[in-house]
Amino acid sequence: MNKNIVCIGAGYIGGPTMAVIAKMNPDRKVYVCDINKKRIAAWNSWNYELPIYEPGLVDVVKEVRGKNLFFTTDIKSAVKKCDIVFVGVNTPTKMFGRGAGRASDLQFWEATAREIKGYADGDKIVVEKSTLPVRTAAAMEAILNEGRGKREEGRGGEGPRFTVLSNPEFLAEGTAIKDLLSPDRVLIGGPETPEGKAAVGEICDIYAGKDGKWVARSKILTTNVWSAELTKLAANAMLAQRVSSVNALAGLCEATGADIDEVARVMGADRRIGSKFLKAGPGFGGSCFKKDVLNLVYLCETFGLHTAAEYWSGVIKMNDHQQERIVSRLFKAMFNTLANKKIAMFGFAFKADTGDTRETPAGYVARLLNEEHVRLAITDPKAIENGKRDLAGLDGITWEKDPYKAAKDADAVLLMTDWKEYPALDWGKVFKSMRKPALVFDTRNCLDAAALKRLGFRVLNVGK
Ligand code: NAD
Ligand code: UDX
Repeated sequence: MNKNIVCIGAGYIGGPTMAVIAKMNPDRKVYVCDINKKRIAAWNSWNYELPIYEPGLVDVVKEVRGKNLFFTTDIKSAVKKCDIVFVGVNTPTKMFGRGAGRASDLQFWEATAREIKGYADGDKIVVEKSTLPVRTAAAMEAILNEGRGKREEGRGGEGPRFTVLSNPEFLAEGTAIKDLLSPDRVLIGGPETPEGKAAVGEICDIYAGKDGKWVARSKILTTNVWSAELTKLAANAMLAQRVSSVNALAGLCEATGADIDEVARVMGADRRIGSKFLKAGPGFGGSCFKKDVLNLVYLCETFGLHTAAEYWSGVIKMNDHQQERIVSRLFKAMFNTLANKKIAMFGFAFKADTGDTRETPAGYVARLLNEEHVRLAITDPKAIENGKRDLAGLDGITWEKDPYKAAKDADAVLLMTDWKEYPALDWGKVFKSMRKPALVFDTRNCLDAAALKRLGFRVLNVGK
């Protein structure tokens, strides 16, 4: 078995994860492949205009690209060169047929399994890096090992043998490099057979890094394959549930005069609850939470656990409601008519420090405002290109790099993403350029509301 690694899928997961694996394992060659030629060209671009924005990513890529990290569309030769194959292709929510709107669309996944089987000329460890429904490894194994028979049964045993492991990724966008360099834990699920255990050992060695300089062995947790697959969905569902829970309390705070930031601070001081992931806001976005909770709902339904399915569905329902509530509150605060008013949306990315707009709350809110014939000027430091693509075809939307220009003559500023640039703006200048009365709706509670009020703004927050 050689130590080389190939990852199929050069997206938000494949790119950063493999860059850090290459950095921490200078003795291994790491290949990252994709069918998307444009994406691979961007990863290889001379001026490091990488296809995704992540703080610290460019520095890692500069350090290892061309030395032991290679981006390529030649999947065939990369698979031949490497005995360890990570699969990090997309697994979006299925939008057609059985399970539409809930189940994972596994077509890219299955196509990849068939590709690996077609190209492999020796034994391989295949590692699920994508987030997948429980028991996907069984399907993968069936495709990969189809027709080879079992050596121990005395029939077949010819052809490459594939051992399938689950190694879900827990990094969050915006902090991907930090999360990868010092993860809370790494999870590796494998079959409890001698080959399975040996394969898990190989993957543990990757995360330990060269000379044991990366992840401490105590943080590398091993389980059976099904537990690993389910843990990823479960962890995302628990995190999403916390956001929905705090947002459900935020509405009650608004109605009663309680302050959600105070409530969250004191709740979080209880070590059993913990202080993280209790920030009320416009609801969660990103490519993972909604998709993974829906996947969990579908799995519960499939196994006849209808009450559990309903429970997890509530997390999504609350999230949608939070975005609808933002528009309702804006409507009320702007004298029950939004038509033809100009609203400057500050931030379109689903969170700060990323250009990713998948499932961004700003997208849903923008569509709702568009239905009200609002003139929307959207600004974002990193997400304008993705945002333009998301809202293509909608009239009445302009995109503005400069937040001051976006706010000029606006009736309201609607802050959707907590970019650190926004609290640092000259809000006196913003106020002067706006139509009066000027409103700021800070859905992330990241601006100094008292200071804004002193300048003359009317201010709305979430949960206050
Ligand atoms: P992505 O869409 O950014 O990247 C996936 C890439 O796979 C695309 O570039 C696509 O062209 C490529 N691809 C698809 N089919 C292929 C094939 N047959 N051969 C070669 N390349 C192929 O998606 P992502 O955000 O990187 O997510 C990938 C997986 O990782 C998903 O299952 C997701 O749930 C999981 N995940 C993502 C994150 C995150 O923060 N984005 C975090 C944890 C887990
Ligand atoms: C998430 C998981 O955190 C990560 O472990 C997994 O691998 C992928 O999915 P990500 O979606 O990139 O990561 O970002 P995350 O920081 O979890 O934020 C998700 C959404 O929740 C964002 O829209 C964020 O603004 C929102 N959020 C988060 C809140 O509204 N309040 C919080 O307290 C935390």
